[in-house]
Amino acid sequence: MVDFTLSDEQKALREMAHDFAVKEIRPVAWEYDRDGTWPAEILRKAWEVGLMNSHIPEEYGGPGASYFDGCLIEEEMAWGCSGIQTSVGANGLATSPVIIGGSEEVKREYLGMLTEEPKLASFCLTEPDAGSDVSGMRTRAVRNGDKYVITGQKCFITNGGYADWYTVYAKTDPEAGHRGISAFVVPRDDTVIVDKKEDKMGQRASNTATITFNETEVPAGNLLGAENKGFKLAMMTLDRTRPGVAAMAVGIARAAFEFATEYSKERVQFGVPIAMHQAIQFLIADMATKIHAARLMTWNAGVLLDQGRRNTLESSHAKRFAADTAMEVTTDAVQVYGGYGFIKEYPVEKLMRDAKIMQLYEGTSQIQRLVIARETLLPRHIEEPATVTA
Ligand code: CAA
Repeated sequence: MVDFTLSDEQKALREMAHDFAVKEIRPVAWEYDRDGTWPAEILRKAWEVGLMNSHIPEEYGGPGASYFDGCLIEEEMAWGCSGIQTSVGANGLATSPVIIGGSEEVKREYLGMLTEEPKLASFCLTEPDAGSDVSGMRTRAVRNGDKYVITGQKCFITNGGYADWYTVYAKTDPEAGHRGISAFVVPRDDTVIVDKKEDKMGQRASNTATITFNETEVPAGNLLGAENKGFKLAMMTLDRTRPGVAAMAVGIARAAFEFATEYSKERVQFGVPIAMHQAIQFLIADMATKIHAARLMTWNAGVLLDQGRRNTLESSHAKRFAADTAMEVTTDAVQVYGGYGFIKEYPVEKLMRDAKIMQLYEGTSQIQRLVIARETLLPRHIEEPATVTA
């Protein structure tokens, strides 16, 4: 049987996340966006009530929530402010490769660090010359006895300026393309330099930094999975985290949709509320359909993960469609507001700016289409183990 009804526990979780967004996030969201304020206090509160690190298994001190439940949380929190939720949720991206490929010792130390205190970790894949083309990265990791020495620069790193440790991808065999990349857990020390905080179009409350690793030494045991298997680890991670990004995109779209529908009932033109005009009704109808479809795709991608099944295709369907939906719906919300939509005093222009990054980070909409095309035209039957051991 296929049933989209939430259980009582799931409804309670969603309500908890929604209340948090209403009370802690919404009241400051537009101000934090304007000033680019780092939401330290909100992160601490989210950690305290269990809305951070939801994916970390119970044996390492986390709530061990399902991927599906994670999607419920991400939609509500992003409805509050997707910039703030990007900061709250970024530990999920950094810890996923650790959960998949870390040794028991590494998991206890680094996952435990995040569940014992409200600390942060960042995922370092992208480089100035290696964005969509992951295997073009230049960061090097050289084995030296029982250590690796890592040198290189990573950019667009969410929470990079505030992280206590990093999941870093580096070339261990530079001649081997994607088969020469390895992943490591790298604690922050004084060889890790935070170079630049980006001044962004949207999601301005989140921290995005350039991080340089300057001959940073890590114990060989911090290698995640096997040497030269880091590319697959990165892809497996993105399969797991893209549904959460899709859920955030649904949250942004829903926020814009709610503002637009309310406004359309209040704004009077030609003697009636604009909601009475078919031109506006059809915009609202299309927004509603897209949000509904995006949410169903997102839930589907999350449920497959919870069933232990490979979800590469569904994850890209959800991320692509939900991100494009967020962009379209927020643009249409501005349209419903007319000239006022373009003014910062009204809420929807922020949402339109925030939506843009959903089509860019964790794989652009074009990369999602590439994955969808490949999985459709030449389906790969990758037997994916639940964990990758060294
Ligand atoms: N799961 C497991 N293995 C996978 C896989 C998956 N989903 N996808 C590919 N692989 C394997 C393939 O089977 C292949 O294995 P073999 O070595 O055995 O042949 C290998 O990986 C290489 O696969 P491809 O030939 O498909 O690799 P590619 O170089 O063509 O790249 C890509 C594929 C989809 C374009 C990929 O590079 C990609 O996803 N790029 C986008 C990167 C991205 O999303 N970056 C976002 C950074 S994180 C971020 O934005 C967050 C932030 O903090 C801001």
